[in-house]
Amino acid sequence: MKPADLDDLDRPWRTWASLIIGGMLAFSIVMGFVVIPVVQGYGAGIDPFTAICRAVGLVPGSPSTRQPTSAAKAEPTTQVAWSTQLLRTLSRPTDMGAVVAEGCVACHGQRGIASDPQNPNLAGQSAVAIYKQLHDYKTGSRANDIMTPIAQTLEENQIRAVSVHFAAANRRSLDPTTAEVVDEDIVRLVERGDPARALPACNSCHGFSAGGPIETPTLSHQNREYLARQLRAFRDSSRRNDIYTRMRSVSAKLTDREINRLAEFYATTLQY
Ligand code: HEC
Ligand code: HEC
Repeated sequence: MKPADLDDLDRPWRTWASLIIGGMLAFSIVMGFVVIPVVQGYGAGIDPFTAICRAVGLVPGSPSTRQPTSAAKAEPTTQVAWSTQLLRTLSRPTDMGAVVAEGCVACHGQRGIASDPQNPNLAGQSAVAIYKQLHDYKTGSRANDIMTPIAQTLEENQIRAVSVHFAAANRRSLDPTTAEVVDEDIVRLVERGDPARALPACNSCHGFSAGGPIETPTLSHQNREYLARQLRAFRDSSRRNDIYTRMRSVSAKLTDREINRLAEFYATTLQY
């Protein structure tokens, strides 16, 4: 063949090859930078413009975008730390105690026995338990419209003093003639719990010298309405200052009837 013929043959090949390569390039660009990002972005809720910018590399993609931050604070169950020094002061009466208690008598009673059954009695409650609750109200671990602002006005040494003051007062005495007839199943819950529901006995922690956690409050001189309200508050987690969710897990397994009957039991039975 003559060279001129070869030239004639070469030219269309080059044209076709260039067209194919150019076409593949254009196709890849459109697919890679437009179609795929827009389609995938649509599924991920990203608008087409951002999707294209991300694919081209003008806008950072999902791994390098800033993670959403939240201003919500996780409140600890309690900020109380039991030190030997703290426990020692909680067993020593001071003159300050009676002075601070002046601000409490309107609701908790002259001697720590409240006339309104919605308010808890403080007389004879353990100083450690009173201290923990006041500390928790002050720091926000336990919230109450009335007690939170009151506790916030108290200094650490006033909290200690008033805890010792009320702990030393005599408990509410019970009139045996008004004692409730107690159900067998409630006594069983108090003394033995319910293994079928993995419910521990209340008295394994709350009874006298039961060996429960140090902050366990005494229940047996308490007002029925107050006790029932606290059990419900633990059950719906509106009260969550119990360390290791001890009371939240117990109360979650109690029925309404059991809560009412247990509150009645502890409010009217002093032997525990
Ligand atoms: C205006 C009424 C009022 C006054 C004044 C008041 N309290 Fe209270 N207190 C309450 C009520 C109501 C509750 C129950 C709150 C709840 O349900 O969390 C409570 C709860 C408490 C508890 C928790 C008891 C428990 O068994 O967990 C302690 C401790 C306490 N108060 C101590 C005090 C001390 C100390 C003072 C005085 C410095 C005081 N309160 C003043 C109404 C009052
Ligand atoms: C594993 C130990 C444990 C068991 C079991 C237990 N409790 Fe408690 N309970 C506690 C502790 C600890 C607190 C104090 C929580 C805190 O730090 O505020 C508490 C608090 C309470 C309160 C609130 C008292 C107050 O003055 O505010 C009530 C009411 C109560 N318990 C009832 C019960 C009943 C009823 C049962 C049995 C069905 C029971 N508890 C079983 C450990 C226990």
